[in-house]
Amino acid sequence: MLRETVRVQYRHAPGANFADLDAVLASAPGRPSLPVRLTLELFGRCHEQLGDPGPVVVWDPCCGTGQLLTTLGLLRRDEVAALVGSDADPEPLALAARNLALLTPGGAEARAAELDALAWQHGKPGYSDAAAAARRLDPAREGPPSEVTVADAFDPAATGGIVARHRPMVVLADLPYGRQTNWAGRAAAPQPDAPAGDPGPHDGAAPDDGAASEAGEPSPEVSFVSALARVLDPAAVIAVVAQTRKVTLPPGTTALERLRVGHRAAAIVRAGDVAI
Ligand SMILES: C[S@@+](CC[C@H](N)C(=O)[O-])C[C@H]1O[C@@H](n2cnc3c(N)ncnc32)[C@H](O)[C@@H]1O
Repeated sequence: MLRETVRVQYRHAPGANFADLDAVLASAPGRPSLPVRLTLELFGRCHEQLGDPGPVVVWDPCCGTGQLLTTLGLLRRDEVAALVGSDADPEPLALAARNLALLTPGGAEARAAELDALAWQHGKPGYSDAAAAARRLDPAREGPPSEVTVADAFDPAATGGIVARHRPMVVLADLPYGRQTNWAGRAAAPQPDAPAGDPGPHDGAAPDDGAASEAGEPSPEVSFVSALARVLDPAAVIAVVAQTRKVTLPPGTTALERLRVGHRAAAIVRAGDVAI
């Protein structure tokens, strides 16, 4: 069955105002993050695709500054058992750890104090507003445990280790856009072990179109989904977002859902459905 790409209807995040959270999360120039509302929607859909799983471990294999994970830890804490972030680039991981510290006792107050100090230092009322927003983040409730680590998403030894330790059932990844962030690690080089055009096994359903890249080389997003599917529990659900018209999946793979959101597209796929 061909999976149509549909414009997103926000079933899991009906409200659109997440200004408090946006103000509190630490970011850095050239470190884009997924909008909060889209993060909640994709997580809600993945969780739904798992049936009624209870709290799940969520892994972001391109976690950057950890905003996606922190958002889920703060706003979906009852559905999240633990948060795991990894990135090929070690640089943003210090910021990721700072953001995830918002989930620990006293974390929101510490961030508020930091923002108060910035307001005093720079005389900018925006920092005071952000400090007030941090104090509204329900600091009394501890969030799920979290861990961030350096790992190339294309390195099976690294990703296999993460999966063995944490057993993630939801994977959410905001892929490098090629403008502010680029693919690194093995993805930056040609992928010799992922032959283009190999249809692979599938479940009898017609695969989504757009599966092979125009140049005949598997695109990084195809290689990325294959690499994750090789190490994940087959029941795990992967959501990938890219700034593109349509996320390309490995040939022979049918998505559970496909969505369009502005200049982004997302695909949700079950690891066991990925033709590898
Ligand atoms: C669009 S950003 C992700 C933003 C992040 N999800 C957040 O919430 O802030 C893409 C990230 O992918 C990372 N990346 C690039 N190549 C990678 C690879 N081979 N393995 C893992 N991460 C990679 C980049 O370093 C960058 O941090």
